[in-house]
This record gives sequence, C-alpha cells and structure tokens, in this order.
Amino acid sequence: MQPRSTSTSKDTIASARERLIVALDTDTATKAREIVEDLKGEVFAFKIGLQLFTAEGPSFVSELVQTGERVFLDLKFHDIPNTTAQAAVSAARLGVWMMNFHAAAGTEALRAARLAVEEVCGRESLPRPLLIGVTLLTSSGEGHLRELGFAGTPEDYVVRLAKTVRAAGLDGVVASACEAAVLRREVSDDLVIVTPGIRPADGTLGDQKRVMTFREAIESGSTYAVVGRPITAQADRRAALANLIS
Ligand code: C5P
Repeated sequence: MQPRSTSTSKDTIASARERLIVALDTDTATKAREIVEDLKGEVFAFKIGLQLFTAEGPSFVSELVQTGERVFLDLKFHDIPNTTAQAAVSAARLGVWMMNFHAAAGTEALRAARLAVEEVCGRESLPRPLLIGVTLLTSSGEGHLRELGFAGTPEDYVVRLAKTVRAAGLDGVVASACEAAVLRREVSDDLVIVTPGIRPADGTLGDQKRVMTFREAIESGSTYAVVGRPITAQADRRAALANLIS
C-alpha cells in the first residue's frame, strides 16, 4: 500500500498509477463524478476536500468508497482533542483510505485521534485509514511564518511539526516536495509524505508557492503526489495527466 521512494525515472513514470492522488475540488458531486469517470484506473486515489465535502457531505464520500476508489478525506481537522478524535472516528466509519489533521492541533489531539481511530477500527473490524498531519500549506511561505511569529525557514517549521506528528504516532505528513528529503533525513525514512503543489514543467503556479513537477516530487522522496487544477480544470484530462507525469 505504501510504495517506497524511488529514484529512477523509468520507475517514476511507471508508478504514476501508484503515486498520484487527484483533488476533486468541485462544487457539485456531478462535476466530481465526471472527473472520476475520466480518470479512474489511471490514478491511485481521489481527494475530497473542504469545498466538495461542504457542498455534498459524507454521502458522496460513501458513494465514491463504494465504487472501490481510494478516498483521501482532506478536511484538515484542528480542534480540541475530544472533537478531533470523534471527527476522525466518523471519517474512519466512512471507509476512507486516508484522512488528515493540522499538525498544529498538537500532540495531544493527534494522539487522541489515532487512539480513537485504532480503537473503533479494531472493535468494528474496519480498515484503519492512514493518518496524516498537515505541516505547512504549500501556498504558504516565509511571509506567512513571520505573521505567525516564527523566525525560522519553512523547512525548520515543517520538520518541527513533522516531529509532533511522529510523536503522536501518525503515519505521515502533508508537506511540499521541497521538504521531502529533509523529512526523511531528520524525522524518519518511513514517513508517508503526501505532497500537493505539483505542477507540469510548463504550468502556471496559481496560488501555490512551493511547487515541483510530479517526477521531481517522487525523486525527492514523496510517497504520494496530489494534483488538482492542472488536471481537473483541463478540457482533456487524460492528456493533461500524461503531460503531468511525462
Ligand atoms: O489545484 P491544486 O493542484 O493546487 O490543488 C492542490 C490540492 O491540495 C487542493 O485541494 C488543496 O486544498 C490541497 N492541499 C494543498 N496544500 C496542503 C494540503 C492540501 O494544496 N498543504
């Protein structure tokens, strides 16, 4: 389920179906179904985030899970330990493959969520989803860290939060591919590293700042790459996917 990082370009191209998660950032389930229809069999998983979940709720998550697709529920939970843990339990009961939390929620909330998910999955014989902590959004850079009063670099901040995530016993982190190598070196080589901010070599950045191509991300040590608009907003999504992974 969790491929190891690889450094040969041949493997990188061959592994797109095992490494790519497509973000279903749409306002309706109908539009999301169109994207799934275009790309199923070509990508590893689909991501449901705040926009689609707020519009369509858990029923679309269940629908997608029931079609056999892996679902990454990207709701970035961040609340007091009890609420975080109970939200995570509800997500686990939807059958998602992966879910995430803001690492800034802290070790206590993250650990409470992990323990609660492990307990309910054991008791109800559910598959235990991968539990991932968001470090620093890929749209954030040094300016945002200064606003927070943090004097270090994005790399320092990501490493610090990844250690929190690890201390809580979660499986991995969301971080920019720019930090994948340092995370493997300074936190743990077996972290699951999920990296958004993926752009084709000729692509526009949009609101993302710390970006890489798909190939660069995998070669840098990302486990999974997340991509949205560079594929989903294109008229020919399969052609856009081929261009992204080339
Ligand atoms: O369209 P684009 O490829 O920029 O989409 C990236 C997706 O990854 C969005 O759904 C965004 O919410 C998500 N994401 C991110 N940075 C993070 C965590 C999630 O861009 N740190």
